[in-house]
Amino acid sequence: MKAVVFERFGEPSEVVEIRDVPLPEPGPGEVRVRMIATPVNPSDILVVRGRYGVLPKLPATPGFEGVGIVDKAGPGLLGRWVEGKRVAVINSAGGNWAEYAVIPARQARPVPADIPDDQVATFFVNPATVIALARHVLAVPKGEWLLISAAGSTLGRMLIRLGRHDGFRTLGVVRRPEAMEELRRLGADAVVSSSEGPVEDQVRAITGGKGPRFALDPVGGEAGAAIFRAMGDGGKLVLYGSLTGEPIPVDPRQVISARKSIQGFWLGHWMRERSIPGALLVFRQIANLIRAGVLESEIGGRYPLEQIREAVTQAEAVGRSGKVLLEFNPKS
Ligand SMILES: NC(=O)c1ccc[n+]([C@@H]2O[C@H](COP(=O)([O-])OP(=O)(O)OC[C@H]3O[C@@H](n4cnc5c(N)ncnc54)[C@H](OP(=O)(O)O)[C@@H]3O)[C@@H](O)[C@H]2O)c1
Repeated sequence: MKAVVFERFGEPSEVVEIRDVPLPEPGPGEVRVRMIATPVNPSDILVVRGRYGVLPKLPATPGFEGVGIVDKAGPGLLGRWVEGKRVAVINSAGGNWAEYAVIPARQARPVPADIPDDQVATFFVNPATVIALARHVLAVPKGEWLLISAAGSTLGRMLIRLGRHDGFRTLGVVRRPEAMEELRRLGADAVVSSSEGPVEDQVRAITGGKGPRFALDPVGGEAGAAIFRAMGDGGKLVLYGSLTGEPIPVDPRQVISARKSIQGFWLGHWMRERSIPGALLVFRQIANLIRAGVLESEIGGRYPLEQIREAVTQAEAVGRSGKVLLEFNPKS
């Protein structure tokens, strides 16, 4: 089969290549999935750069999620049950950027037929994170402000639509002023741009001087610090990404006397803490919220496997709109 392989960590457009590799065989409790499509997510790019929290042994194939058909089951009941079904391919070890992937049978999640392939390809990473952050980790009450940086990201857009759905108010921060109007139209209650003056001043003006009590940042560096400063007393900031790769400078007095706090979030840890019924509930909520358009991913580009270098470049292009998908045997 063909697979995207990288032998050393580095710039994705330089180190990834297509190779012929042996077809993998599923072991006990595993299934093999024939992949239909898989997204290029920031976490995949971080793995290739060698900057993700957990890194694979090299050579490796990236890809944490996607959609495919289970074509072979190893020994075990669960595998036999999903054989032949279309599934969301949740691959916590990575390896979905290939024509076939082997994963634990419990991580092959059948998805109702009315949800299209594109949305099954992007079913898990961002939607589950949005539900976890807004409804569980921060549990943003109705009517409260949620401050969101990188608000134009696929995940930021989902948070904005969930705010409308669940009744909390969203205040988005973007780096490009051109993105502001579109996010307002999407349903953001307010949008500011870091290019138009200090973020904390703009946020305080919108929230009546007090600042929001809830905030999310995947950017880090000075952008993350501005989000922290903009929050009101007692504010909680959850860091869930590191798009700049830079540390966030924090004034200790803001933590001590203003009682602001910072915590981290990683979906892998959070899902491991769910019970089986709890995880099933998350999957059901995702399916319903995709149907309602709330957790839908906009698709910004489709590439065949052979164009992997173009795909990884486009996935990080400034101002691109929507997720980049790698497609296997695309219809021309
Ligand atoms: N912790 C977890 O478990 C978890 C789970 C899911 C996602 N995430 C994180 O969530 C974030 C968003 O994911 P996604 O799939 O929605 O991403 P995406 O659709 O690829 O969007 C990336 C966004 O980040 C913005 N951006 C990139 N670099 C930036 C910088 N240096 N400063 C300010 N903005 C920057 C881009 O802005 P422009 O529009 O201006 O180009 C774009 O809107 C990523 O960091 C990802 O790793 C974390």
